[in-house]
Amino acid sequence: MNLNDQQQNREQWGSKVGFILAAAGSAVGLGNLWKFPYTAGQNGGGAFVLVYFAILILVGFTLMLAELILGRHTQLNAISAYRKIKEKWAWVGGIGILASYLILSFYSVIGGWVVNYIVKSMTGAFNTADTEVLSSIFVNFITNPIQPIIYQAIFVILTLGIVIGGVSGGIEKYSKILMPGLFVMMVLIMIRSVTLPGASEGIKYLLLPDFSKIDGNVMLAALGQVFFSLSLGMGVIITYGSYLGKDENLPQSSFTIPLIDTIIALLAGLAILPAVFAFGFDPAGGPGLIFITLPAVFSQMPLGNVFALLFFLLVLFAALTSSISLLEASVSYVVDEWKMSRKKATFILSFVVFLLGVPSSLAQGPWSHIKFIRGLDFLDSMDFIASNLLLPIGGFFLCIFIGWVWGIENALKEATNDGKISFKLAKFWAFLIKWVAPIAILIVFIQGLK
Ligand code: TRP
Repeated sequence: MNLNDQQQNREQWGSKVGFILAAAGSAVGLGNLWKFPYTAGQNGGGAFVLVYFAILILVGFTLMLAELILGRHTQLNAISAYRKIKEKWAWVGGIGILASYLILSFYSVIGGWVVNYIVKSMTGAFNTADTEVLSSIFVNFITNPIQPIIYQAIFVILTLGIVIGGVSGGIEKYSKILMPGLFVMMVLIMIRSVTLPGASEGIKYLLLPDFSKIDGNVMLAALGQVFFSLSLGMGVIITYGSYLGKDENLPQSSFTIPLIDTIIALLAGLAILPAVFAFGFDPAGGPGLIFITLPAVFSQMPLGNVFALLFFLLVLFAALTSSISLLEASVSYVVDEWKMSRKKATFILSFVVFLLGVPSSLAQGPWSHIKFIRGLDFLDSMDFIASNLLLPIGGFFLCIFIGWVWGIENALKEATNDGKISFKLAKFWAFLIKWVAPIAILIVFIQGLK
């Protein structure tokens, strides 16, 4: 099959809203619900949120559009997309795919925890607001050497099942119902959380920035979070963009997706941090925060068990719409480039990613004393390498590629569908992608590594 046939036969999204939901589905996931609240908690709350916003606007939106442009223009996966325009740049797509793979490995571990919490809420295992009990339920589970690995496998199998089916069938159909469902649920939980006695401390912690807390680490964490949360820097959005029709409005999509993503992250922050203060948990408690804090909130709600079950089901769905995009990045590469069948590629890649995730799971229990980089355990090291190093590096070179190598003119031609739609911020975006975004990424990157 030559390149042109490949492009003509390429699968496309079933509808416009289908694409937005799928891309928002990729963006909204454990990054918003699990990672954002605890990363904010560990990095000074409001200080982190403020830096997050700045980076979101200067870098997030800018790169979102750049990836969509590149994907739709070439109609190819990340590596092939770069290669098609400039042979020598294929490795930038490669860094992205590597990052996606590392992320998927530990993402599946957390996804497995969610599956376990679905089971737990069905059996009413945590119907209490007792912080000690809730912490020990969580810790007992994740430190177990075997159980979390079984759940991790279940999560990988679910992801694999969907990816084998292709992009436009199931994902789109379910996203249309479940994404709005998640939103409504988050609003309800947030309302309960902010009205708990003692919650106001948490609201202040999240929304009032303490400027003295802003340092290189906070900035690097926020940069990593923007990339992670928006699914940027590794070709997922390039790949999703490649399934887009030529009449889609890319600039508009690159606003809508970050907007939806940020609203959900803030809701999650407002659902969790006020409750953290109300119940006397530690805001810097780390990856367990959502699993320990929210059950306490549910216990204070009428029909708490039902809420818990519904909530974790929706989290699972959100996590799956993200994990499939993570897996899709490498599958689509192997299918396009090595001409492997979709089925075979999906099976092999899933199996290997499962194995790669096992040490992340063990790092919570039997291997917790083993530190890799910066005193971090295996899971946190993978996250650091992928989110804080590889994604920003991929993002930096994306800016250089679009702004300087391929050229703004070509990019804008694609963004405006050959001049058919207006893009008022075109000049501003060009300035951001050529100068502001790459310099910001570079500064934050260097500051954070010190
Ligand atoms: N954005 C997803 C989340 O917030 C995770 C994710 C999916 C991701 N695809 C990605 C992160 C690509 C980085 C790159 O949970």
